[in-house]
Amino acid sequence: CFISMFLFHRQEGEPPVENGWIPYIGCALEFGANPLKFLQTRQRKYGDAFTCKIAGNFITFITDPFSYNSVVRHGKNLNFQAIALKISKRVFNHADFTDAKYGINYEEIHQIFNKTLQGFSLDPLTSSMMENLQFVMLQDKKSPDSSNWTTESLYAFSYRIMFEAGYLTLFGKNKKAMKQDNTEKVKAQHVAIQSVMENFKVFDNVFPALAGGIPLLFFKAAKQSRMALAQALSHNNLRQNGNKSQLIEQRMQLFDHSPALDELSKGKTHVTMLWASQANTLPATFWSVYYLIRSQEALQAVKNEIEDLLLVTNQKPGDMNNPIIFTREQLDSMRAMGSLINESLRLSSASIMLRVATENFVLTLDTGTNLAVRKGDQIGLYPQQLHLDPEIYEDPLEFKYNRFLDENGKEKTTFYKNGRKLKYYLMPFGSGVSMCPGRFFAINEIKQCLALLLCYYDMELLDATAPTPALDNSRAGFGILQPSHDVLFRYRMK
Ligand code: HEM
Repeated sequence: CFISMFLFHRQEGEPPVENGWIPYIGCALEFGANPLKFLQTRQRKYGDAFTCKIAGNFITFITDPFSYNSVVRHGKNLNFQAIALKISKRVFNHADFTDAKYGINYEEIHQIFNKTLQGFSLDPLTSSMMENLQFVMLQDKKSPDSSNWTTESLYAFSYRIMFEAGYLTLFGKNKKAMKQDNTEKVKAQHVAIQSVMENFKVFDNVFPALAGGIPLLFFKAAKQSRMALAQALSHNNLRQNGNKSQLIEQRMQLFDHSPALDELSKGKTHVTMLWASQANTLPATFWSVYYLIRSQEALQAVKNEIEDLLLVTNQKPGDMNNPIIFTREQLDSMRAMGSLINESLRLSSASIMLRVATENFVLTLDTGTNLAVRKGDQIGLYPQQLHLDPEIYEDPLEFKYNRFLDENGKEKTTFYKNGRKLKYYLMPFGSGVSMCPGRFFAINEIKQCLALLLCYYDMELLDATAPTPALDNSRAGFGILQPSHDVLFRYRMK
């Protein structure tokens, strides 16, 4: 009958299903408004696995963290790329490399991520970011009143510093601006990056809507901004820059060999990298700086680590001709700061992990329950549930900078639920095949930013007793959530 076209009936061995009451849309509105609340109420109603109809898709959510492994390790029948590609093509309008005419395959692209963002490749990235962060921060020092207090919004402040430094690190510096005393070119480069940043903001604001399937033609300004970003990242422009990251160098070489990619298409593929490298890092840096300066205890612990490191390495901040250098190993050794960043990520991350079933199969959960999964259905994990589970994290909504430190001051990696040790307890970077290849660099660059901010600035919130801003749920599912409003703070150069 007509109604059964919209309803999905439960078959033997399949999880309970919720169709929602609107045809096609299903539970999408309630889920989209607050995924965490939605999943928590359904978990109480149905247990650890249930299927929901969301915008035409059937998604089976697995909410028991002990069963996450069954999904993460189930590469054979569960595909990640199909969903990721569909969304990224929609959002970025980039070339579809599954089409043989481009002469490039996704395997080659993935290999470049792993080769250029991990292991030894982190060393040049780390030193370049260290230099660029100081380059950006010390621009302020040139103004005569930089030692007076300045009041600014913290999100805007951390955003502009991280964006510019991260951009220079990946996409390089203008070769003419790199020549000593070429202040005009340095200024022009700064202005050009500001313009990229403004376009990025406009485009990023509509990212959730585009990913959700609303066409770009409804967002005129964002359409122009996306085009401007692709033009800024054309190979002709990127060739003017020196000190580019290996990530971008190798992608440029790969794309230059394609017989079918034109200049604009190449730029569009780099916009995906700009987004991947900035969209989560920017709010993650904000939350880390915010919690750092809000808690005196955290601030003191982190300051001690930095002072110790400066002493051991015989460095003094403030000399523009001798920038501070912290190596990757030294950054790794800052455990209190590492814990503070993990705690900030725990409280702000809300990514969804989706896989699509490539055939009918049976998924065995940790409890031994066998779930029948239909071809075309999706399996979803939503680790924010895990991150805010009071059985795992006591007072889960509270920020505790040392939550990820053990009794010996090393990184704490043992967390329990119902007396059982968890394999997965913190997943801001996803897991398995879709795990973020930039995660080591991301943590490093946030550490560098915090360390250098404390080296160069005094900083304090204008109202340290004001409640922490709520999370803006409009980006739930896409990574680190932004604050619902900005907070004022004041800073001055030391
Ligand atoms: C993918 C999180 C920073 C590069 C991902 C994914 C997550 C994530 C959850 C998987 C998305 C999915 O399952 O579909 C984060 C967070 C970051 C961060 C929380 C910062 C705090 C970075 C940085 C870079 C980067 C700095 C690069 C410079 C990438 C790339 C992918 C990715 C290239 C796609 C990988 C693929 O297609 O397999 N990130 N990321 N990320 N991330 Fe990150």
